[in-house]
Amino acid sequence: MGKEKIILTGDRPTGKLHIGHYVGSLRRRVELQDSGDYDKIFVFEADGQALTDNIENPEKVRQNVIEVALDYLSAGLDPKKTTLFIQSQIPELYELSFYFMDLVTVSRLQRNPTVKTEIQMRNFETSIPVGFFTYPISQAADIAAFKATTVPVGEDQEPMIEQTREIVRRFNYIYGDTLVEPEILLPDNSACLRLPGTDGKAKMSKSLGNCIYLSDPADEVEKKVKSMYTDPTHIKVSDPGKLEGNTVFTYLDAFCRPEHFGRYLPDYADLNELKAHYTRGGLGDMKVKKFLAAVMQETLEPIRMRRHEFEKDIPGVYEILKKGCEVAREAAAKTMSEVRNAMKINYFEDMSLMEEQAKRFSK
Ligand code: TRP
Repeated sequence: MGKEKIILTGDRPTGKLHIGHYVGSLRRRVELQDSGDYDKIFVFEADGQALTDNIENPEKVRQNVIEVALDYLSAGLDPKKTTLFIQSQIPELYELSFYFMDLVTVSRLQRNPTVKTEIQMRNFETSIPVGFFTYPISQAADIAAFKATTVPVGEDQEPMIEQTREIVRRFNYIYGDTLVEPEILLPDNSACLRLPGTDGKAKMSKSLGNCIYLSDPADEVEKKVKSMYTDPTHIKVSDPGKLEGNTVFTYLDAFCRPEHFGRYLPDYADLNELKAHYTRGGLGDMKVKKFLAAVMQETLEPIRMRRHEFEKDIPGVYEILKKGCEVAREAAAKTMSEVRNAMKINYFEDMSLMEEQAKRFSK
């Protein structure tokens, strides 16, 4: 039997998910889920990791756990095919993190570029919480505990996966082949690597107020698209327009499919034609924005509808998470038992140990 193909990925529940999450990861997860190519799929909320820099704000994490669960379900993750769970409910993950800590040096952690930037962004300077500093180790445990072979994440997570691979290699080298080295699975469409905010800023973020949320009502989406950043030098309709840094076109790259033209903008055959006209001059921003709004609503409407259904049964959503935690815990516990055997900390399971010791002391 070949090795099982197992997907694991997740998000910190620090805010509702937005369309950047959708095109960058959620959409892909649903495709992977429905592809039938994987034996198991785990998608989880990293609430423990979220707490590493929100320890004084547990209510924020608690509120967002249900928001993100609703986002997952409404985006199309199906609990029949994907195990949805919450990190903190799987104590085995913390147990494994503790042993992994001995396989990584402080200087190696200090070199992790993602953690470095995050520390700067949070102005931690010399007051970095130890838990935050070591979250790449706990992330390695998240992945290894499920023997994940495939981790679909954005490129900012690359250093985490690399660090996981190093830890797993080191573990297997010392204790024998036990854990699985995961592969990263990056988004396939370059427009999706990072969707800019509606203001054209490089990143969509709650603090910048430039997000379109999956849970935004239709009129809100419409409003946000209409006020979106385009090309500031494209003033008159007749002016030639630039595509680079033009948020409306970046979003079209991420959302638009050829069939949308027939439905909403039949004067153009495809996106290339529309872009050519815009660059040449003679195409107004409003026309492009109206088209984008139509395209986005087509994608977002079914998500909103599903969300409304799940919102009517919140206890049902908690039940889905609880069931998912049970399934996840069983998988992690199985790995942990192998880890304890490999690390020789299985005192009560290993009968030969007791016999050996008894013999030794009876002499
Ligand atoms: N660090 C990830 C993020 O911020 C969340 C995460 C935690 C994760 N553990 C993981 C992602 C394991 C993939 C695999 O989005």
